[in-house]
Amino acid sequence: MSELNTSVDQTRLPLAFPEVQPPGYEWFENEPTFDPSLHLDPQPPEDVVMLADLGYEEDDIAPTASPVAFSSPFKVLSDEGAAILLDVARRLRPYGARARERIDNMVRGGCHRSRWLRALCLAPEVTELLSSIYRTEVAPHSMPVHLGHLNYEPTRVGEAVDKWHHDTLPLDYVMPVTDPRTLPGGRFEVFLGTKTEAAELAASGERPPADRVMAPDFGGPGWAVAIHGNMVVHRGGPLTEAAERITMVNGYVALDRSRDDQSRSQDLVGVDDPAVLPTEWVRHAAWRGVGRLEDLLATVPYGIDQATAAGLLEHAVADIQRTIREMRTEPPPIEHYEHEPRSGINGARGDHI
Ligand SMILES: [Fe+2]
Repeated sequence: MSELNTSVDQTRLPLAFPEVQPPGYEWFENEPTFDPSLHLDPQPPEDVVMLADLGYEEDDIAPTASPVAFSSPFKVLSDEGAAILLDVARRLRPYGARARERIDNMVRGGCHRSRWLRALCLAPEVTELLSSIYRTEVAPHSMPVHLGHLNYEPTRVGEAVDKWHHDTLPLDYVMPVTDPRTLPGGRFEVFLGTKTEAAELAASGERPPADRVMAPDFGGPGWAVAIHGNMVVHRGGPLTEAAERITMVNGYVALDRSRDDQSRSQDLVGVDDPAVLPTEWVRHAAWRGVGRLEDLLATVPYGIDQATAAGLLEHAVADIQRTIREMRTEPPPIEHYEHEPRSGINGARGDHI
């Protein structure tokens, strides 16, 4: 029996949301039912910045999900919706954990506990808006652990909520859950440059300089910024005094699977629940492979030689093969752009969540 309420349109999802909950997860009781007409107020952003504007070359952009880097802030939730999201996030706080060395306090898998959060993260109205921003057809991420990710203020004032990094998933939006206009610091910040430039700075022990950092002005809680998270270096900045600071990040994938996966699920080992991650990782890899194999069936012509045919098959199953390799090896150190230069960890890599 499906647990999904009628507001979730499964036909727009890359994969149906699992009908069975992972072991140990219970649905919250007494939640409001998600009502898009009351809880959403989606408005398009005024501007978008392109990857080319950040200094990326055509060859860097071509294999990625979207040519867009990030948008200006746009409204997603009504005041009522924003108030419910804050309640849900506070209710999820007891499930908080540290993401190894990068994020002090976060909750993942909330969409396996809160039907309201799940319905928001899968809402077709929001997906449609994100597709228009990214200029390509997108869907909520095929791995539910990437839906409704919540970051909470660190236990130590002055520690960044989330260190400078780029994401392990291609596309997402970042939404303040608490009111960003009244917070002491803790701003969401974007580096106006490429990953290579951020890595060069990190290698010499530096952080992105203030004149190349942009902090969008959100209109309030329930607004969002869409980012090409895997290509744009960003962070949740430190608070200057103790305060409640919660943000929500919802992940998306491009439906065109001919392009790069842009996922580093191996970095989620030791972060996500071991009773959840392998299953969702396998589903994602299988979804990628099925799409490419179906494309191959539909397009493979006569007249190709064996080497070409082998290459086509290899491309079709590349994500599956990579996934098998990654599942069978130890994950590398978690990646971000704030390792000490002499720590022995390669600061040039920075990639997580
Ligand atoms: Fe991020």
